[in-house]
Amino acid sequence: KQIVRVGLMGFGTVGTGVVRIVQAHQEDLQKQTGLGIEITKILVQNAEKSRSISEMDPLLTTNADEILNDADIDVVVEVIGGISPAREYILAALEQGKHVVTANKDLMALHGAEILAKAEEKGCDVFYEASVAGGIPILRALVEGFASDRITKMMGIVNGTTNYIMTKMSQEGADYADVLKEAQALGYAEADPTSDVEGFDAARKMAILATLGFRVPMKLEDVDVKGISSVSKEDIAYGKRLGYEVKLLGLARRDGEAIEVSVQPTMVAKHHPLASVNGVFNAVYVHGEAVGETMFYGPGAGELPTATAVVSDLVTVVKNMKLGVNGRGVVAPYKEKVLKADSE
Ligand code: HSE
Repeated sequence: KQIVRVGLMGFGTVGTGVVRIVQAHQEDLQKQTGLGIEITKILVQNAEKSRSISEMDPLLTTNADEILNDADIDVVVEVIGGISPAREYILAALEQGKHVVTANKDLMALHGAEILAKAEEKGCDVFYEASVAGGIPILRALVEGFASDRITKMMGIVNGTTNYIMTKMSQEGADYADVLKEAQALGYAEADPTSDVEGFDAARKMAILATLGFRVPMKLEDVDVKGISSVSKEDIAYGKRLGYEVKLLGLARRDGEAIEVSVQPTMVAKHHPLASVNGVFNAVYVHGEAVGETMFYGPGAGELPTATAVVSDLVTVVKNMKLGVNGRGVVAPYKEKVLKADSE
């Protein structure tokens, strides 16, 4: 095999970024993997819509089966988002023996166990680095970088939209509704921005971080969530006078066997590094028993940053294909849940 063929499902903000990076870094990707990577089909909702990359027009299809049943396609990249039909498409792709890369935090937080079990059964890879904190390679860091350690605490600013809103409210005294519109125009917000402002998007990401970081299956319904809709400009100004920045903070803590995960607007002391994470940037603070304090910082949303995570996952899949070791990737933490469910 000389060329790995990719079916791209979804051609919105992230999908466009994926195409741009695969095109722009073609030679370098080939050098790293030893194989060419070619996007051969793109699933869209409306093939007539005019797009910023028109040379891909001949690859567009509105029929998912054209990708799922195409035996030449080795990898499916899912960047549609949401649960359905993304879940069905991913399960069908795995059933056909195709590897999957997804940016879908909603799906991985809710149905990660099912998807990873199917991948394992079929000997396929599923990677989802882009699902948490956009361009920050935090899932790899947790699974590989801290494999030797025991993580006790994580604190995260993991929703770019709300951090953008809070920053503008804090620095410019801007109005909530105006800034939310700006965040939507920049492609940061979810299709339904309630997920962002009510903290659900951050909760899903924290559930994924806790599952991978603590190596135990963490259920989304066990995350306590409070969003930013009740935070006023006045609250933010008051906090500032006392030496705090208000941030929508995810907290995941382990104390012995007990695990606590929450998302809520939190007063962060100005001298803490999380207080200076502004705009669409995300940060994840990780404390490990042996390593002590670490912090990861970078763009949490947007076309190219999120697409870097997707394409890097694609590179891992292709390297695994070359080595013949697919299906041995980041699956372990969910296994316990699946096995338990099976034996119940
Ligand atoms: N709506 C999300 C955010 C996009 O604002 O962080 C990236 O997951």
